[in-house]
Amino acid sequence: MTKIYVLNGVNLGALGTRRPEVYGSRTLKDIEAALAGEFPDVEFAFRQTDYEGEMVEWVREAGRSADAVIINPGAWTHYSYAIHDALEATETMKVEIHLSNIHAREEFRRHSVVSAAVDATVVGMGEFGYKAAVSYVLDRM
Ligand code: DQA
Repeated sequence: MTKIYVLNGVNLGALGTRRPEVYGSRTLKDIEAALAGEFPDVEFAFRQTDYEGEMVEWVREAGRSADAVIINPGAWTHYSYAIHDALEATETMKVEIHLSNIHAREEFRRHSVVSAAVDATVVGMGEFGYKAAVSYVLDRM
């Protein structure tokens, strides 16, 4: 069974009420339940944290025990070299995802410091982006 970590970072636990015009009105739990329903043959580990060090630990754990990691680092995307380095040191397949099109938003969101450490990025597809990321991982395996 393919094992995929789906890691969501800072402030993504507030999906549903946080700027629904940008991020949609579905909660993270809704998104995770939809993924589990859509891909019953995948063993998922769904996690969310607002603590950078915890995210770094999970990225490393995914490297040891999963086939792939799909990560939305939230605002850490734009400045966390720690998460970049953790991803860079992780051998497993890695996909970075953003619900919104970060390239069409404020200047500070247009650059990702983690993109150089992942295999692929999904941007601006909303919730569908998570499904696209899982499909990509399964296709590559
Ligand atoms: C985000 C984009 C980031 O700029 C922002 O800080 C987030 C969410 C997205 O999914 O579109 O928290 O990663």
